[in-house]
Amino acid sequence: MNKQHLVIFDTTLRDGEQSPGASMTKEEKIRVARQLEKMRVDVIEAGFAAASPGDFEAIQAIAQTVRESTVCSLSRANETDIRRSGEAIKSAASGRIHTFIATSPIHMEKKLRMTPDQVVEQAVKAVGWARQYTDDVEFSAEDAGRSDIDFLCRVFEAVIKAGARTINVPDTVGYAIPFQYAETIRRLIERVPNSDKVVWSVHCHNDLGLAVSNSLAAVLAGARQVECTINGLGERAGNAALEEIVMAVRTRADIFPVETRIDTTQIVPASKLVSQITGYPVQPNKAVVGANAFAHESGIHQDGVLKHRETYEIMRAQDVGWAQNKLVLGKHSGRNAFKTRLAELGIELASDEALNAAFARFKELADKKHEIFDEDLHALVSDELATPEQEHYKLVYSHVCSETGEMPLATVILNVGGVEHKAQAGGGGPVDATFKAIESIAGSGAELLLYSVNAITTGTDAQGEVTTRLAKGERIVNGNGADTDIVIASARSYLNALNKLHSSLDKVRAQGDI
Ligand code: KIV
Ligand code: ZN
Repeated sequence: MNKQHLVIFDTTLRDGEQSPGASMTKEEKIRVARQLEKMRVDVIEAGFAAASPGDFEAIQAIAQTVRESTVCSLSRANETDIRRSGEAIKSAASGRIHTFIATSPIHMEKKLRMTPDQVVEQAVKAVGWARQYTDDVEFSAEDAGRSDIDFLCRVFEAVIKAGARTINVPDTVGYAIPFQYAETIRRLIERVPNSDKVVWSVHCHNDLGLAVSNSLAAVLAGARQVECTINGLGERAGNAALEEIVMAVRTRADIFPVETRIDTTQIVPASKLVSQITGYPVQPNKAVVGANAFAHESGIHQDGVLKHRETYEIMRAQDVGWAQNKLVLGKHSGRNAFKTRLAELGIELASDEALNAAFARFKELADKKHEIFDEDLHALVSDELATPEQEHYKLVYSHVCSETGEMPLATVILNVGGVEHKAQAGGGGPVDATFKAIESIAGSGAELLLYSVNAITTGTDAQGEVTTRLAKGERIVNGNGADTDIVIASARSYLNALNKLHSSLDKVRAQGDI
């Protein structure tokens, strides 16, 4: 089969970041962007430049760093948003502006309060403004999944004439069903004049659990770009999962007339990095990247796989990067080997001081846990990558007394803005007691929405990775912490969330946001 190229457009840093509490710092976004580039993603949607100064700076930094992938910024269909995007992607080796406006009757009437004619006019203007900054302009008809096909044809014809190169047909609310969505794509390609001059793109949400199926059905109908996220992260039930799209196309090469340029061995490292940074754990039975995705439990399956792997396995674990989970450093590794491995992982520490601090923690960790994996390094440097405003609360000391029949008692010392405070508290368990002691110093009044612990690697000496989700007023943040001692990991995670609430990181999004 003569294969066509399927463009993989990753929106983890934009739609993915819209998941509650998944806000990332600039440094974290750069780490994710580097991993996406290493994975050979075609387009990285780095953010929504007009949403906040933090988003703008992150896109700008990614545009300066990434050379092998196109860097894209999202904008509503207005001149101010588009100017911000144009400025943010200015230094990209290859930069794209993605502009969108809603086309469904319900969105036009109730949200935009615009007539269909006004929407067409605005869409055309938006593409024209974007073309002043780059030739690579993508147009999205928001809520296309519930839009009238004749109106979509009209809008798309007009924006293609105005210079859009990629036409995206989002199923914004996850309403589509595969055969029907595929039919929409097929009809659009047939009916819109000059449809062969543009790349047809799909962007599916997972509200009915159909985001990947809808995207793949659309590929069979002629779409040549899929918008997706690592681990399917994204608004509400999430977006189509990149790893599932890429592996479906590759594994069923007999069906799909397309191929991607993705280095699939980078999929699991990307999944772990995004999970660790956003605090969204990957469910064990998640396709491709879940811990059990290649585990065979039943005796019949184990026997079959031992006799011939392909009896029960359609993909090889090492092809998606599970084999990357190898020993990388040990307690005898020196500072240089440590620094080199960090550089290979795309991690640059700002100063020699930060490197020395991270190396000291690495040595401590290597004493407790003899085998250090890439995942451990990612967790370890997270603290060193924090900026001063994210370190208002620092853990100085933690002690917990926990014995059968007694209430656990925790003592903590925190450095708060340069001053040390000590507190003691009892609780239902050691973690509860520690959180209460921290809260008695911080007095944040935040509500704990989620607390979860995961082992970063295997074995009882593994680091526990803790996610704590806190809500205060309108704001929701996720905090992460890792340590071989899960009470300390929990304290770090809680403080990380408090620091995010304290800093202005968790941006207040622009009015009329998507
Ligand atoms: O879901 C959606 O419609 C979007 C657009 C901005 C592409 O995220
Ligand atoms: Zn979306």
